[in-house]
Amino acid sequence: MQVAFEVPFLKKDAALKSDARHIFDKDIFNADYFAPDKEAYYSPEKAKLGELLFFDPVLSDNNQRACASCHKPAMAFTDSKTKSVAFEFDTLPRNSPTVINAGFQNRLFWDLRAGSLEDQLDSVVNNERELHSSFSRVIDKLNASPEYVTLFHKAFPNTKKTGITRAYVKYAIGVYERTLTGLNSRFDQYMQGDVTKLNQEEINGFNVYMGKAKCGVCHFAPLFNGSLPPFYDVSDHHSIGVPVKDSVVKYVIDPDLGLMKINGQGFARFSFKTPTVRNVALTSPYMHNGLFKTLEQVVDFYDHAAGNKFKKDMRPDMTGLPFFTILPVELKLTDAEKKELVSFMKTLTDTSASAKVPVQLPQFNPPYANLNGRTIGGVY
Ligand code: HEC
Ligand code: HEC
Repeated sequence: MQVAFEVPFLKKDAALKSDARHIFDKDIFNADYFAPDKEAYYSPEKAKLGELLFFDPVLSDNNQRACASCHKPAMAFTDSKTKSVAFEFDTLPRNSPTVINAGFQNRLFWDLRAGSLEDQLDSVVNNERELHSSFSRVIDKLNASPEYVTLFHKAFPNTKKTGITRAYVKYAIGVYERTLTGLNSRFDQYMQGDVTKLNQEEINGFNVYMGKAKCGVCHFAPLFNGSLPPFYDVSDHHSIGVPVKDSVVKYVIDPDLGLMKINGQGFARFSFKTPTVRNVALTSPYMHNGLFKTLEQVVDFYDHAAGNKFKKDMRPDMTGLPFFTILPVELKLTDAEKKELVSFMKTLTDTSASAKVPVQLPQFNPPYANLNGRTIGGVY
């Protein structure tokens, strides 16, 4: 009606675009709203540069690891590992999350410790277990590539004065990551009006998800994560009691304190950001510790009231704590409903963002000419 009557749309700085037709519009999110600075607003030049950096192992100290080492496009930007492989080949404490749609969150990481993609990058590049490098070493290398220098000048004219700085490296990668959207899955196309896109089992599954199984009370449409309606600009977290092992004999809660390690608050003990259910057909294994290999296991866990089922088995000093924020009721799903629920989740796949992979990386001059044969996306 607004379009028909030529009523102008509000120009408001908000997560959702005011001219989106409905919440399943594939362009509903306003990427620039999540940018930490005007320099991080979208432009094709910035996104292209960020894409090269994301796949370039030059960001790591041994020039063998890139962001794409743990965020592989073929797996919706995850790595299929229970926990990611660290720089020295041991494991990181957590499972690598998808980067598709990750830019539309005000909090990043399982424990919500970063406030923007750019903020998140600091810890990755400097982390001795991830890229094991420092921005000064990375910038030193980038300056030895006239191609990179030109790309920075084009994307951020200010760098002609300042040179390549840490901030611009981060902005470029952040802008690229905010282009990694996937909101046009089969499910979305159905919601946009093409009713041929889902079969009856999948439609039933959506109703189980939103109804009897109560998944939608934490994983909110349209992102199917913890971004809270109606503004979708705050990421929520929950403690659902994911155990260390999937054992029916003895329950031991995963000792990772989650958000509590960041804010010191008792209520945040074992609390994690509610991750997205989009693309879960490709992002196994699941949960912050990568415990579950299949969606059927995930559904069974919830069917038995998640961690609540095991509360009685917990260490006495822990049982009294009100740390589970999931209802202590069994869902009592039938086998058919479980199957429908899994079928529905598999309709949320949209990996169009995975198509953007560079075919060539910029060349380097001495003393870094040895980098010219490096592997796109890293060696491991
Ligand atoms: C060694 C593996 C590894 C590498 C390399 C790596 N990541 Fe990650 N990434 C992870 C893991 C594991 C997490 C989750 C960590 C946590 O939550 O504590 C993560 C989290 C993230 C998140 C947060 C997603 C969300 O929804 O909260 C983003 C974004 C991200 N990485 C982007 C990047 C970028 C950009 C790079 C390159 C500069 C990079 N990663 C390099 C393993 C890796
Ligand atoms: C009380 C809030 C809450 C409810 C209800 C809930 N979830 Fe979750 N879900 C979470 C949180 C928090 C995590 C991350 C937990 C962790 O890693 O410790 C999660 C993780 C997941 C994951 C793993 C995603 C990944 O990338 O690792 C899937 C899949 C999932 N939930 C599906 C469901 C389904 C299906 C339902 C309904 C049967 C459901 N959830 C109900 C909060 C909830």
